[in-house]
Amino acid sequence: MSASGLRGRGGAGFPTGRKWASIRAGGAEVGDRYVVANGAEGEPGSFKDRELMVRNAYQVVEGLAVAAFAMDAAGAYLAVKESFTLQIETLSRAMRELSDADLLGEVPISLVAGPDEYLFGEETGLLEVVEGEDPLPRLFPPYLYGLFTTSPQFGWSAGVDARADVPGGEGPDVGSNPTLVNNVETLANVPLILTRGVEWYRSFGTERSPGVALATVVGDVVRPGVGEVELGTPLVEVLEEVGGGLPDDRSVQAVLSGVANPVLTGDLIGTPVAYEEMREAGSGLGALGFIVYDDTADMVAVAHAVSRFLWIESCGQCPACKFGTGEVTAYLERILTGKGTEHDVELIGARLDTVTDANRCFLGREEQIVIRSLLRAFPGQFVAYLEGTAGPWEPVPIPKIDDLVAGEVLLDRRHARKQPDWTFAEGP
Ligand SMILES: Cc1cc2nc3c(=O)[nH]c(=O)nc-3n(C[C@H](O)[C@H](O)[C@H](O)COP(=O)(O)O)c2cc1C
Ligand code: SF4
Repeated sequence: MSASGLRGRGGAGFPTGRKWASIRAGGAEVGDRYVVANGAEGEPGSFKDRELMVRNAYQVVEGLAVAAFAMDAAGAYLAVKESFTLQIETLSRAMRELSDADLLGEVPISLVAGPDEYLFGEETGLLEVVEGEDPLPRLFPPYLYGLFTTSPQFGWSAGVDARADVPGGEGPDVGSNPTLVNNVETLANVPLILTRGVEWYRSFGTERSPGVALATVVGDVVRPGVGEVELGTPLVEVLEEVGGGLPDDRSVQAVLSGVANPVLTGDLIGTPVAYEEMREAGSGLGALGFIVYDDTADMVAVAHAVSRFLWIESCGQCPACKFGTGEVTAYLERILTGKGTEHDVELIGARLDTVTDANRCFLGREEQIVIRSLLRAFPGQFVAYLEGTAGPWEPVPIPKIDDLVAGEVLLDRRHARKQPDWTFAEGP
């Protein structure tokens, strides 16, 4: 896996081989190892995992079985949202057929159906759900504090035999239980790399970003969709091939890759879709969930939609994140409704500085990254609202996708009624 250069398709692009090696490190003292396939797909603008799980559930299950074998795991889990009924059907069938054909190996694989919350996809929130809890992120990553571990959460080190410190504690469960969490698309690459070889895999993509990847293209394009692209393909071609491009009289103003990377402005759509090049262009590849905004889009309203989404979805375990995302959303709303002043912009800047303080997970950082990038890229649009020359404000829906069939996106409109305590207000 290391030689293939495969990187995680869940968003962060972490080298898969290195992750596998870190889970394998250590001896019996680390406890049991586990593997979890992340099929939660909660990133706005992304639908590729659901498409993959319907079109080739076998490859996902096979990749998970191989990873479980390679980790010498005590158990493996395939986690998807309860609402992904079609995917649950295809995955269950694939698991049954592969198991009946005796092709899954020794490690038991279970399907876990989780809640709709964004944090279900965050890897430590995911582990909580596998354990039957709510998706509230943990303090430590899965390789340090894995599934079903009973080693103290506040211990200083993992991979150290905690038994010595536990009076009479000779039980088998005192290790950190290192747990491998990989995105379902990452795992679907595994069988192909193993059967066709590293050279074949590396014949696709670029030297630094080898292989192919699934991209979702939604927003102001002609035909939103999901498609497989060779890494290194210019973004403009991906928008054309996967999303049908823009109508003739429109041009790209901005592209967001999910809500975790800085905005890419329209002048940079020639950037190759590869980890390094997207980073060098000031943005990031993420999970290749491209949300396209044309030249008519209100980027202040977009900032509000992203900030509100993150505020609502923040779990509140870290005050700076919950209150910070809430405050930024409120200041943006003041600006959009014509009540804003320069002071509100200053306050947004100040909150963005602290929204990441003492955070357990990356959500607060997403707020900082995306909103700061929009302020920097489109200052004129913020000024126009302050000066009263823009508006009236029309709220922009966050592209949290419920379904994507034949070029038609069905958005989760219910999210507009979701409250910061994860209940829903009355309404249509
Ligand atoms: C707020 C948040 C939400 C996330 N949602 C998802 C998700 O829906 N699916 C996913 O695969 N990874 C998601 N991730 C990334 C996971 O935490 C994790 O990095 C990933 O599953 C690792 O797999 P990979 O190495 O194969 O990319 C999310 C991360 C954060 C911070
Ligand atoms: S950073 Fe935000 S979303 Fe993440 S655990 Fe803390 S409060 Fe929850």
